[in-house]
Amino acid sequence: MSTVLSAVAWPYANGPRHIGHVAGFGVPSDVFSRYMRMAGHDVLMVSGTDEHGTPILVEADQQGVTARELADRNNRIIVEDLVALGLSYDLFTRTTTRNHYQVVQEMFLAVRDNGYMIEQATSGAISPSTGRTLPDRYIEGTCPICKTPGARGDQCDACGNQLDPTDLIDPVSRINGETPEFVETTHWFLDLPALASELGRWLDERENTGLWRPNVIRFSQNILEDIRPRAMTRDIDWGIPVPGWEDQPNKRLYVWFDAVIGYLSASIEWARRSGNPEAWRQWWNDPEALAYYFMGKDNIVFHSQIWPAEMLAQNGKGDKGGEPGKFGELNLPTEVVSSEFLTMEGKKFSSSKRVVIYVRDMLDRYQPDALRYFISAAGPENQDADFTWVDFVSRTNNELVAGWGNLVNRTAAMIAKNVGEIPAAGELEPIDEKLLGAIRNGFGTVGKLIETHRQRAAIAEVMRLVGEANRYVSETEPFKLKAPEQRDRLLTILHVLAQAVTDLNTMMAPFLPHSANEVEKALGGDRVIAPMPRIEDVEDLDGGPGYPIITGDYTGVPAWEHRPVTVGATVSKPTPIFVKLDPTTAEVELERLEEQSTGADADQ
Ligand code: MF3
Ligand code: ZN
Repeated sequence: MSTVLSAVAWPYANGPRHIGHVAGFGVPSDVFSRYMRMAGHDVLMVSGTDEHGTPILVEADQQGVTARELADRNNRIIVEDLVALGLSYDLFTRTTTRNHYQVVQEMFLAVRDNGYMIEQATSGAISPSTGRTLPDRYIEGTCPICKTPGARGDQCDACGNQLDPTDLIDPVSRINGETPEFVETTHWFLDLPALASELGRWLDERENTGLWRPNVIRFSQNILEDIRPRAMTRDIDWGIPVPGWEDQPNKRLYVWFDAVIGYLSASIEWARRSGNPEAWRQWWNDPEALAYYFMGKDNIVFHSQIWPAEMLAQNGKGDKGGEPGKFGELNLPTEVVSSEFLTMEGKKFSSSKRVVIYVRDMLDRYQPDALRYFISAAGPENQDADFTWVDFVSRTNNELVAGWGNLVNRTAAMIAKNVGEIPAAGELEPIDEKLLGAIRNGFGTVGKLIETHRQRAAIAEVMRLVGEANRYVSETEPFKLKAPEQRDRLLTILHVLAQAVTDLNTMMAPFLPHSANEVEKALGGDRVIAPMPRIEDVEDLDGGPGYPIITGDYTGVPAWEHRPVTVGATVSKPTPIFVKLDPTTAEVELERLEEQSTGADADQ
């Protein structure tokens, strides 16, 4: 049994999230966490909305509301969407809590006191026409490293390198196209070069585990070569105040020293809410504890460089030495689990038209487990993947409905019709033993695949076993066993099928939690197989405004192992668990997207 932190990337609250986001950080982290709980580990899954910084400010300006109002609105939408998808956070909070402000400021002081924050004059961009500071993200130009045009002032998406706006060749403002003016301004810089050798040592050690995805470890080691001090503060008036700079409200901490610290602050908030304020230390200070970070690939630098460097600095573990701050010696990531990108109808719509499918729209019209199935089976795990409606309909109808749904349905229907309860088995024949044996072996194979973040292969293996069970029905033909002398054999087959479905359902639970509970009921069980998250409106722990959190009680899940069916449990005529999609679905949805894209063009 291990202590496992599931640290899930913090979505920006500048708008509702689309299915690409939940494919990157959401579903994979939930499948992993649910599985790890079933395998007996002590999991803490935390995240929240990232509500500071320019993306929020710019969007709020556009909508004519305050940053806080915009953040409040989107925080609630995101919370509702993630709950509807069944993501089992122990705590999903936000970066605007007082607890988060305190933790971030304490981190800052610890890092500064250990000597890893340097105050330095630098050059900052302002808009010549308005005199206002121009956020990094809103400056565009040619990347100095890979020479691709359209790189942003904070990052080049083409090569993934972090940039400063002053690095860009021919910079222009994305807001109005003017050339920014650079003026002198003072900021706090994290002394990354003083932490580089420790970071390198840690990455080498991680590489030796062979666990990280090759592209992630390679990328992380590459960016170490160009390491230099990075500004952790910005000229902006929306964010966490910089300790010691209270007289300069126009300078705030930057996302690199804000949202990433949320993993720690959310763990602390969770502990405080649980009544044992020190409980978080089990996940953060015990060197045996494991920490998995889930995100899309544009976030690797946050998690394999900036955040580990901040923890090393707090721990007093760089070239300048130092003492651990009040958070003690913090654990660095065990694994940075980064996924690639999910495009949407990539062949048909260019991303510049910003045609995306929102989680909300998807869940309004389709079952959450249908989306979860698609993401698990065809998501961007190791390479970019494309969501198409044709593919979604075909996966739902041909695999979920015709494969798994059909097995559950025909099993429950035959038992209801012939017995009305789960029958006891007579003597098992080799064909029965073979099926049950294959499924029992599945626990080991599928579990290992999930544990090593190969979820596509994991669900494919469960579906292969579903196929075997469906083949077993065709081979044993229980529907033909009508004569009285065949009754014993019929009951045995139905027992075997009930057992097969029960064990397969245990394996499906991390992927398809909503339907796992339904399948259990269809077979006369009354256990919660996959506990669901809930929204709770809470008070801020330190007197700030209240807010909604996602939390839940995920104890009492069945163990990740074979569980004998309850002979005698009542089974009634089932209703189908998965909805078969109409053949026109893809066409209708494509038309909708077409309209959305025309709308987007008109807006520009
Ligand atoms: N909100 C940011 C993004 O989506 C950062 C998320 S990761 C975190 O890119 F570590 F900062 F939380
Ligand atoms: Zn580049």
